[in-house]
Amino acid sequence: MSIVDRIDAALDRLTDQQKTGLAIGAGIGAAAVLGYCAHRAIRSRVPRSGKYPSNTLPTDAYDAVIIGSGPSGSTCAFYMARGGARVALLDKEHFPRDKYCGDAVCTPAIRILEEMGVLKELVDHNEANFADSGGFVSPSGLSYIGASKERLGGAAACAVKRTHLDMRMAHKARDTGADLREGFEVASVPLFDAQTGLWSVTSAKGETVRGRVLVLADGATSRMAMQMGYCTEPPKGVCSRAYVEGGTHNADFDGVCFYQRESLPGYSAIFRHPNDELNYCYYLIPCGKDGMCGDVTEADLKRLHEGAIRHDPFISRALGPKAKVERMKAAALRLGSQGVPRSYDDHLLIIGDAAGHIDPLTGEGIHTAMMGGKAAAATIMAMRKTGNFSRASTCQYERAWMRAYGHDFAYSKRGAELIYKYPILLDACANEMQRVGDPMMTKWAEVMTNMRPKTYFLRPDVALPMGFALLRELWAQRIAKRPDAYQATASATAA
Ligand SMILES: Cc1cc2nc3c(=O)[nH]c(=O)nc-3n(C[C@H](O)[C@H](O)[C@H](O)COP(=O)(O)OP(=O)(O)OC[C@H]3O[C@@H](n4cnc5c(N)ncnc54)[C@H](O)[C@@H]3O)c2cc1C
Ligand SMILES: *[C@@H]1O[C@H](CO)[C@@H](O)[C@H](O)[C@H]1NC(C)=O
Repeated sequence: MSIVDRIDAALDRLTDQQKTGLAIGAGIGAAAVLGYCAHRAIRSRVPRSGKYPSNTLPTDAYDAVIIGSGPSGSTCAFYMARGGARVALLDKEHFPRDKYCGDAVCTPAIRILEEMGVLKELVDHNEANFADSGGFVSPSGLSYIGASKERLGGAAACAVKRTHLDMRMAHKARDTGADLREGFEVASVPLFDAQTGLWSVTSAKGETVRGRVLVLADGATSRMAMQMGYCTEPPKGVCSRAYVEGGTHNADFDGVCFYQRESLPGYSAIFRHPNDELNYCYYLIPCGKDGMCGDVTEADLKRLHEGAIRHDPFISRALGPKAKVERMKAAALRLGSQGVPRSYDDHLLIIGDAAGHIDPLTGEGIHTAMMGGKAAAATIMAMRKTGNFSRASTCQYERAWMRAYGHDFAYSKRGAELIYKYPILLDACANEMQRVGDPMMTKWAEVMTNMRPKTYFLRPDVALPMGFALLRELWAQRIAKRPDAYQATASATAA
């Protein structure tokens, strides 16, 4: 008997009075659900009216002035311009410019790039390498590299140099109608005039632009947000980068993450570009006591970065003896909204790294920068219709990014703490990958690139096999005393 049949039979046995009672109960329940949904729908819209409808915008002013045209600023500018808004997109640099980064672009970003028409340009110019063979080395040296193009088909990441990516995105925003102003360094705090409801933003050279909404998109140091009091502390994470010349190395994969035990929950990674150049970087992820990234600090980055090139058995083998490695560069990571308790205010939004929108487990933030930039554009377009630019409206942006990826930050942070305390969890992941192969690797990649929430690992059908993998690893490491594969590979390489 099916569940439905059982319920039917139970209903048959009820008296009419009981049935009426049930119907009323169900009615009240349904009304409550509908009421709640209606309440949610109303709450998730911006207020209907305000002081600044479109016809009050002076012809020389913009609907929004965006400071910074990295992935977050350019995405926001693109969607605003496409919707017919007037937008100024300011950057202190001239494109093309370099940005220290691991260059790994996750699927949610790839989708937005496709929508913007930028992906096609990157592909046409051979500037994007879709990762078909990718993998992972666990703290005790268990490795899994999915190597089949066919099975890993739905790539979860591609590698694009930021010199190319950021230039094409900024230019796409400009070609769609945004006013891109390069070499415009905002050096002083923008001023808001409550009378006209306009911001004035002035460059170091003295040019001024005015706009209804100020969007801070100036990157992880959040200089503007700091000076304006929205950000309270410098970023706590850090990451290195070095390019390796194409043709000088031995890497035969597209992307691999290496979880060295010493620097957990941080990790290092190598991604390959279309011209066979490699991007090698080393992430230190804040965890534990203030100022610490697990057992190491920012001061250890150079040692770890250079040490791994020479002594990590997997990395030194991938690079080989003749690799031409660029001098180490490094930049800050502001993870999980660190130091930025609120991303909105009257006539103001903070997006991308400036708001700390980097995943606290992976250190990746290009896709979140772009998703947040798009959400900010949607909120600004809605406010433009109603003329209400107050906090009651701008808070919709925070709701949107929380829904899209912000809720995951707490789980990611917890995930980082877990793998710092129990590195064996990563060994168990690798063990399970070695057992079931690419399907597990694909799931892992999807969770790590925000295509699935981190809570996916808690689902019984995922958690149970992981539990068994953990038992297998506990057995192998604690009882069978399997030698550490990192040590074993290291001595094999040395010999
Ligand atoms: C070493 C490293 C490796 C990383 N690896 C990855 C990775 O592999 N994958 C991933 O997804 N993420 C990675 N990240 C994170 C990623 O780089 C950021 O999340 C992303 O760049 C955020 O984009 P954004 O637009 O918010 O800021 P940014 O890209 O930093 O852009 C900010 C822009 O603002 C401009 N600007 C700053 N101040 C001013 C001013 N006063 N006036 C005018 N303009 C100004 C800057 O010139 C810059 O163009 C890495 C970060 C680091 C440091
Ligand atoms: C915008 O809407 C909010 C909420 O309805 C209201 O309190 C506020 O006064 C409005 N702001 C302006 C400038 O009209």
